[in-house]
Amino acid sequence: MLPRTPFYYYDTALLQATLDAITSTVAAYPHFHVHYALKANANPKLLRLIQQAGLGVDCVSGGEVQVGIDNGFDAAKIVYAGVGKSNEEILLALQHDIFCFNVESVPELEVINELAEQVGKVANVCLRINPDVEAHTHAHIVTGKAENKFGIALGDMMHVIDLAKTLSHIRFLGLHFHIGSQITDMQDYLDLCERVNDIQDHLNEEGVYPSVINVGGGLGIDYHDPDKHPIPDFKTYFGIFADHLHLRDGQSVHFELGRSIVAQCGTLIARVLYVKQAESKQFAIIDAGMTELIRPALYQAHHQIQNISSQSIDYQIYDVVGPICESSDVFDRDVLLPPIKRGDLIAIRSAGAYGETMASTYNCRKLPASYTTEDFPLPLT
Ligand code: LLP
Repeated sequence: MLPRTPFYYYDTALLQATLDAITSTVAAYPHFHVHYALKANANPKLLRLIQQAGLGVDCVSGGEVQVGIDNGFDAAKIVYAGVGKSNEEILLALQHDIFCFNVESVPELEVINELAEQVGKVANVCLRINPDVEAHTHAHIVTGKAENKFGIALGDMMHVIDLAKTLSHIRFLGLHFHIGSQITDMQDYLDLCERVNDIQDHLNEEGVYPSVINVGGGLGIDYHDPDKHPIPDFKTYFGIFADHLHLRDGQSVHFELGRSIVAQCGTLIARVLYVKQAESKQFAIIDAGMTELIRPALYQAHHQIQNISSQSIDYQIYDVVGPICESSDVFDRDVLLPPIKRGDLIAIRSAGAYGETMASTYNCRKLPASYTTEDFPLPLT
């Protein structure tokens, strides 16, 4: 018997194949280090495989640092970004001797220095530089433009590096960049490489030699046809950085990939509660809503929707909506699906990244359960 819907269902074989694709590609570049962006999915069942593959983690809160540690990740492979790190969070990261803080402002740098002095440690630091590079993606997930709240402006970089070098409990390691998320145009990464090359040339003229270059994450996935592209093209992605970044001796390159690792292995499974015929529309009302997967409501994101209870090819047009009291609680409009009836199972694909982690209890709903292919096999009907 199938568990109560809605729930997340993860294909662990696909996650493993995705991890294998990453580790086999990166094996050719021993100076490349991949940190999994924990914010994409913190489900322990997935973290176990990611940790076993030898990846580090990229965190954006003390909670994530703790989850990383609790799930066996090596603190020496933890990077920690975020514009608003609290004292408590900084102390936690210092206590665990994480690899590096990605620092986003001068006041934050000063606070980390003070707290490190208090506990007798020296904090490893990369400065997050806002490279002002365009990322062609949804406006809500662009981060590397001058108007975004993230990072230190290029024009202030030299002054902040000089400051970092004077602080007794800060060890300046290098630079961090992250231009955005769901980036499918590889030109954006070429532009980032060029910008980093210019910055490095400038820094070397000033006598500054960073040992770490962290290029963030953001590699996009195919939301329209997950079965055609279950695993992103990591060869091309890493190859761009291998071919175009002008590295100095001894430099390491760090990556913070989230979505591209976990998105395609996750599916949100829901049941149809009602089919409602309105004047000009047919609504399929399902038992999952924006509380389980907020991406369509928040970013107008597209996820492929399937009626996995029917093999019919006599397609009809539906608006697939959730039960939440918000007009934006719509998964997609005018979707062509086999005829839907009450009780049918609906699969919302490519939901492994920023699905479960962004779930909420709005409307006093329960957080969704999760299962893997090891708990019960496909097909689910
Ligand atoms: N590094 C930093 C500093 C980040 O801010 C992010 C994502 C990543 C790495 C990982 O990016 P990824 O490889 O997953 O694209 N909730 C949104 C995405 C927000 C991304 C936030 N930062 C969504 O559902 O599309």
